[in-house]
Amino acid sequence: MSTEEMYLQRHGLLFPKETHSTESLHFAQEFKFKDEDVVAVTYPKSGTVWMQEILPLVLNGGDLTPIQTIPNWDRVPWLEEKRLALVVDNLASPRALVSHFPYHLMPPSFHASKAKVIYVMRNPKDVLVSSYYFHQMASFLHDPGSFDEFMASFLEGKVLFGKWTDHVKSWKNTELGDRIMYITYEDMVQDLPAALRRMSDFLGRNLSEEVIQKIAEHCSFKAMQDNNMSNFKLVPKELLDSDKSPFLRKGIVGDWKNHFTSEQLPTFTSVLRKEMEKETFSLPWSLD
Ligand code: A3P
Repeated sequence: MSTEEMYLQRHGLLFPKETHSTESLHFAQEFKFKDEDVVAVTYPKSGTVWMQEILPLVLNGGDLTPIQTIPNWDRVPWLEEKRLALVVDNLASPRALVSHFPYHLMPPSFHASKAKVIYVMRNPKDVLVSSYYFHQMASFLHDPGSFDEFMASFLEGKVLFGKWTDHVKSWKNTELGDRIMYITYEDMVQDLPAALRRMSDFLGRNLSEEVIQKIAEHCSFKAMQDNNMSNFKLVPKELLDSDKSPFLRKGIVGDWKNHFTSEQLPTFTSVLRKEMEKETFSLPWSLD
């Protein structure tokens, strides 16, 4: 299948047609955010599915029912995907969503509301590696070719949701004030209970230490691998083939070191550095 057949091109970005349509993007623009809604925003492969596990538990005090009974894509749907229109009326309150939209594509009602955002960022080198394997297992994404070829597409932004740097810049330069919280995938891997405490405080939940520990246990990489509502094993193999690479693949920090050659690293670093040079915020990782 050609790139044109696989992706919708809108707003200068690529959206996989399997999960997105003109109607779903329109639905997202018309979506009515409520003040109590929470949306976890990520560039793809930065911890989205992890947030689909975490948010319902933090919002409902650790009740396991949603993560044990509802597949993640319907439990915490993507704002921009086709499924939202089908499940929106069934969402528990307060509603939790995820989105890969850059900031400027958020709908008017989001800006008019007090809905909160948790923006999860991941080291772009690990994002690239994770995405490379995801492209191998997802039949609705283009064949990534060699790692070198895929890196070139990633750096040019010829991948779903465009350039990593544009995404991060858009969300780091908002006027959302205390409506947005930033966290990194690396923080979550390093100390999940601490990350959960921050999220719980940000969302105005006063979770006990016992509940925090319980949520951390159920959101561990291993627990999610074993949860059929979260490991994508319910998706037909024709769409997501776990034999090629599981969706919950490694769940570690620094896998890029096993993939980047000594030539690829400076190429990657210099492109990102140039694109970030005018920014006043600093990244939480060294690009080298
Ligand atoms: P890897 O491919 O590096 O393993 P997204 O959900 O945004 O598509 O991101 C997927 C990445 O998040 C995958 O990274 C996946 O393994 C990782 N991930 C998901 N749940 C996780 C968890 N509980 N702990 C650590 N990593 C997790």
